[in-house]
Amino acid sequence: MEVKTSLLDNMIGVGDMVLLEPLSEDSFLENLKNRFDHNEIYTYIGSVVISLNPYRSLPIYTPDKVEEYRNRNFYELSPHIYALADEAYRSLRDQDKDQCILITGESGAGKTEASKLVMSYVAAVCGKGQEVNKVKEQLLQSNPVLEAFGNAKTVRNDNSSRFGKYMDIEFDFKGDPLGGVISNYLLEKSRVVKQPRGERNFHIFYQLLSGASDDTLKKLKLDRDFSKYNYLSLDSAAVSGLDDAANFRTVRNAMQIVGFMEDEMQSVLELVAAVLKLGNIEFKPESRCNGIDESRIKDKNDLKEMCELLGIEQSVLERAFSYRTVEAKMEKVSTTLNVAQAYYARDALAKNLYSRLFSWLVTRINESIKAQAKTRHKVMGVLDIYGFEIFEDNSFEQFIINYCNEKLQQIFIELTLREEQEEYIREDIEWTNIEYFNNAVICDLIENNQNGIMAMLDEECLRPGTVTDETFLDKLNTICAEHQHFESRLSKNSKFLNDHSLPHNCFRIQHYAGKVLYRVEGFVDKNNDLLYRDLSQAMYKANHSLIKQLFPEGNPAKVNLKRPPTAGFQFKASVGTLMGNLQTKNPNYIRCIKPNDKKASHIFTDTLVRHQARYLGLMENVRVRRAGYAFRQAYEPCLERYKMLCKKTWPHWKGPAREGVEVLMADLQVPMEEYSYGRSKIFIRNPRTLFFLEERRKQCLQDLATLIQKIYRGWKCRTHFLLLKKSQIVVAAWYRRYTQQKKYQQIKRATTVVQSYTRGWQARKILRELKYQKRCKEAVTTIAAYWHGTQVRREYRKFFRANAGKKIYDFTIQRIMQKYFLGLKSSLPSMSPIDKSWPARPYIFLDGVHNELRRIFHLWRCKKYRNQFTEEKKTVYEEKLEASELFKGKKALYPSSVRQPFKGDYLEISKNPKYQKLSSVVEDKILLSDVVNKINRANGKSSARIFLLTKKNVILADQKTGQLKASVPLPDLASVSVSTQSDGFFALRLKEGSTSAIKGDFLLSSEHLIEIITKLHRIGATAADREQFNIDISDEFLVQFKQDKVCVKFIQGGPKNGNSVSCKRKNNRLLEVAVPTTP
Ligand SMILES: Nc1ncnc2c1ncn2[C@@H]1O[C@H](COP(=O)(O)OP(=O)(O)OP(=O)(O)O)[C@@H](O)[C@H]1O
Ligand SMILES: [Mg+2]
Repeated sequence: MEVKTSLLDNMIGVGDMVLLEPLSEDSFLENLKNRFDHNEIYTYIGSVVISLNPYRSLPIYTPDKVEEYRNRNFYELSPHIYALADEAYRSLRDQDKDQCILITGESGAGKTEASKLVMSYVAAVCGKGQEVNKVKEQLLQSNPVLEAFGNAKTVRNDNSSRFGKYMDIEFDFKGDPLGGVISNYLLEKSRVVKQPRGERNFHIFYQLLSGASDDTLKKLKLDRDFSKYNYLSLDSAAVSGLDDAANFRTVRNAMQIVGFMEDEMQSVLELVAAVLKLGNIEFKPESRCNGIDESRIKDKNDLKEMCELLGIEQSVLERAFSYRTVEAKMEKVSTTLNVAQAYYARDALAKNLYSRLFSWLVTRINESIKAQAKTRHKVMGVLDIYGFEIFEDNSFEQFIINYCNEKLQQIFIELTLREEQEEYIREDIEWTNIEYFNNAVICDLIENNQNGIMAMLDEECLRPGTVTDETFLDKLNTICAEHQHFESRLSKNSKFLNDHSLPHNCFRIQHYAGKVLYRVEGFVDKNNDLLYRDLSQAMYKANHSLIKQLFPEGNPAKVNLKRPPTAGFQFKASVGTLMGNLQTKNPNYIRCIKPNDKKASHIFTDTLVRHQARYLGLMENVRVRRAGYAFRQAYEPCLERYKMLCKKTWPHWKGPAREGVEVLMADLQVPMEEYSYGRSKIFIRNPRTLFFLEERRKQCLQDLATLIQKIYRGWKCRTHFLLLKKSQIVVAAWYRRYTQQKKYQQIKRATTVVQSYTRGWQARKILRELKYQKRCKEAVTTIAAYWHGTQVRREYRKFFRANAGKKIYDFTIQRIMQKYFLGLKSSLPSMSPIDKSWPARPYIFLDGVHNELRRIFHLWRCKKYRNQFTEEKKTVYEEKLEASELFKGKKALYPSSVRQPFKGDYLEISKNPKYQKLSSVVEDKILLSDVVNKINRANGKSSARIFLLTKKNVILADQKTGQLKASVPLPDLASVSVSTQSDGFFALRLKEGSTSAIKGDFLLSSEHLIEIITKLHRIGATAADREQFNIDISDEFLVQFKQDKVCVKFIQGGPKNGNSVSCKRKNNRLLEVAVPTTP
């Protein structure tokens, strides 16, 4: 959306001076200064732009700025030169009105810069295309060329235009540029030969010497050193900020773009070089016989080089510097020139050469840039003329320049007033007259055909007889004496008689821009602008086409004896044409102001600006503008700007804009006399009313801003909310989709599982069915096969080898068994009964057999082993076996007896002569003889006895004597008692009532207890006549001692017993035997 802004927005000070309140010169200047301090160099007075020179580059000419101002109304944006350029261009393009842009101001105020800005803006906004761009480029590039040749450094401006320039840019109906025409006005040619102190000659001289290549300089016979040339002022040859060498390249480039041919450029440079050479030609006097000094050239080298450059015959030029030919009617008179005249002639030639070259350049540029099409063109004229000048020493040039400015001021006044007036008429508003200074009277003083200063100068120049500057001044003194703007010491006006600020050879004019004192010296000469015919003829003879063109009057065939028109006359005529031209166009004003004299940025010299504002008549301009109504605005923008001040017009007004504005003004109760309604505009009389409207608008805007803010915030929140809601729906949708998807996938998976189970189940069912069917089929087949087999076998049994299978089976088993037995035979273990090894069985089915065989083999082996025994050994083993059966695990003594052989007859009674007697007593075979201890029944002490055992008796005899002590028939023995311990005690218990029992039982102890008892038992076992006797094994048993029964008790002996068994009679009834503990 396009943002509607206004000049009134963000204003620093007041953008349009018309709105200045209160209006006074001080407030005017204050406003300018305020704006200048804030880099606002442009200010309006209505449609006039005041431009203050910033003397530094500001960032306000960028392409962005061009775009900003493009197609915008004049008052829409803050003041800018682009706004004026845009307004002018658009009225030209859209309303078909020819435009002129008049840029005025004193030297250094920024006119040339302004004209360039206008041109560049128009170039930027107008149409594009290859052809159009070429035209634009040529128009723009004409500037550097003309500036190089027509501008110079002065004390006021480093790039001062020393000529007036008016350029008509021509456009087609679309507004595309077609071409242009440049008019130049009076180049300040005196500068070529002489420059005031601190100033320079035209830029081109310095540019050529600094920027041209060595080769070019050599061709032009020039030296790079400025000091070699008389015409170049040396004190300010180098200007800071000016790069002559770079500018030379720019100029050459610009000339190429504009369309200069290479040889043309060369010719131009040759002429520039020739001027420099010319300045170096010096003269010396040479006395003639008639006593008159004649001038001679001092050093002909420069002359020679110059002639070579221009193709002039040296002698011709040399002669032209020495003689002057005056032709009158049919006569020709030749006079010699003195040195002063020769210098005059030289300088006149240089000035003419240069100024004609400059005019030729303008013509040549015009040739290039002129519009091709013959159709009607729209024209925009840009006038950049030298500014009003007041120097210390003002001469003819300043007079001419200031006259021109006077004319421009005149046209400004006329056109502004006329414009204003026309607008009021156009808008049907009553016009009130306004007082202002009209400089027509000064113009009249200068240009009046009868008694104007210029007319009198011309008259003086044309008058026969002696004519000097003084005679001219006299004339002025008489004729202009009474003029209120003319001042001279010697005038008839006695007012100035004693004015010492007025020298005698000067006159002063009160210009609109101030008083200027002109020195009359040179006025006549400069106005005459005479070039001796000899010189122009010499130039014409040159073998150089450009020179020839520049001096057409030198052609002998066209000798014209009429005096050429004076410089003043020519200038007046061209200014007249210019003014006529300008009056036909719609004027646009840029009034340039110089803020200080130092060419410095940021300095605002109050007095200097005040002076300029005064002579430019800016205050009058404001007053005229405000005379009727200070402010005017078309109805549409006015309604647009203030419609929010009235409920009826806000926010939209449906009817015509004018009615809207009327409703608005009525609603605001603005007094009727404060405004008027024109045809298309409302006219506001007082700035206060405008400010009142603005103030109300500002307040209203604040409220509106709050409202907009409120609505915007609401809108923003709502949008945000809607966005969130939308997002939430999207998120929810996605989430739902996601969960549904998940659920679906789960269901799908579950379904697949269920399905697979079902299918599996069905499949298994079918499989079972099929398998069953298959089994049935197979069974059927098998049964059938068996059945058939049976049938067949039954039928064919007779043909079979019956039971062949059984036989084969039996045979195989047999073979296996055979092999097994043979293997076993070869791997039988040793015959030792204690050998536990046995070969492994080959087949599991032989397990039972194998174990049985092992048992049988073992029994057989034992039998074999036993068979080896003798009868005695056999008896021994039998006894051992019996001992084992009796005592194993019952008595602690048993294990030690296992290894002892049962010897039996330890004493060898029969062989021992000692016991011969005893042996004779014993009838039976002695089965056992040994020494035993008989325990004394009374005290438990023991005494040794011989113990004999026969088949029938147990015999006890004295060990020493062999005397029989007791013989007990075995049938009398009731039982034998032994302890469980490792002792050798045993009690032979006798049957009660037997003969042997009279003395009581025997308590004995033997080392061969086990053997004795075993043998006793064996005898008892084998005796058929008596009952088996008992062997009582216990640690407490009763023994019959005569009448008493004594308890024999075995206890575990303590250490005091040592290793021997001790027996003690404890009391009548107890006999204690302590047995050492077996380890
Ligand atoms: N708008 C601007 N921005 C920056 N610098 C400027 C501007 N206008 C002028 N100047 C500076 O001021 C100098 C003088 O300006 P300019 O040559 O336009 O003056 P002028 O009015 O043409 O003077 P003269 O009458 O002597 O030709 C310029 O060279 C430039 O440095
Ligand atoms: Mg200029």
